[in-house]
Amino acid sequence: MKHQGVGPVTAVANQKGGVGKTTTSINLSASLAALNHRVLLIDLDPQGNSTSGLGINQNQVSTGTYDVLMGDAPLADGLIQTECERLWLLPASMDLAGAEVELVSEMGRELRLNQALSAYQAEPFDFVFIDCPPALSLLTVNALTAADNVLVTLQTEFYAMEGLTQLLDSIRRVRLALNKVLSIEGVLLTMVDRRNKLSMLVEQDVREYFGSQVYEEVIPRNVRLSEAPSYGVPVMYHDVRSKGAQAYLAVAREFVHRRKV
Ligand SMILES: Nc1ncnc2c1ncn2[C@@H]1O[C@H](COP(=O)(O)OP(=O)(O)OP(=O)(O)O)[C@@H](O)[C@H]1O
Ligand SMILES: [Mg+2]
Repeated sequence: MKHQGVGPVTAVANQKGGVGKTTTSINLSASLAALNHRVLLIDLDPQGNSTSGLGINQNQVSTGTYDVLMGDAPLADGLIQTECERLWLLPASMDLAGAEVELVSEMGRELRLNQALSAYQAEPFDFVFIDCPPALSLLTVNALTAADNVLVTLQTEFYAMEGLTQLLDSIRRVRLALNKVLSIEGVLLTMVDRRNKLSMLVEQDVREYFGSQVYEEVIPRNVRLSEAPSYGVPVMYHDVRSKGAQAYLAVAREFVHRRKV
């Protein structure tokens, strides 16, 4: 593992927008917390969807990812205990959008999050997730540099694999230059509709291409998943019996199981 004080760090990434990165970050984190693990979710997207989705108002964040990236605060200072037991959040404050620009001229700008995680010495976490923005930007490079591995979410639609080459290239480049341990943790299919022939075909394609890297469990399209953020809670606190909540719990079990084999 890269960092002594925290468990494995997983960047949830895909530069494509709206493919389930945030929904996965929130609900996989919450599911692992429900399975008794101590989990930290880092919101590295200026949109702050993981922050608001966990019931935190971005306007009221005083210390967040921005301050940690700028070196103005240690990670521990920004941590918020969420309403879910064992789930912690490093929130995205409004100024995170500016970090990209402000960091451009700084030395070691790709290493900021990595350094912050390495310096963390408070109570350890079992798992850390980073919700990435939909771009192969400096923020995403910070995530890939700080992470042990990457979880790629793919929406099962016609263009699912488009742009994937760029993401895989970025991962390769970061591995060469900045983070030689970086691996692909897995590929998770989201918004799956198995009654839809196209969705089935895309799933087949992805499984053929990525083989066992693809999670056996998939996330179905489920309206409860899209409603939950407006209540500021993970789906399991909104409707635990919903297909969406059950799917993320199953993915959490598979996530833990994959680490053991
Ligand atoms: N399995 C699902 N079923 C139904 N709706 C979903 C599902 N997963 C995600 N959504 C909805 O689709 C939209 C995009 O999802 P999400 O925000 O998780 O994607 P994202 O990759 O984080 O987007 P961005 O790239 O903008 O950060 C959201 O409105 C979300 O509520
Ligand atoms: Mg998002």
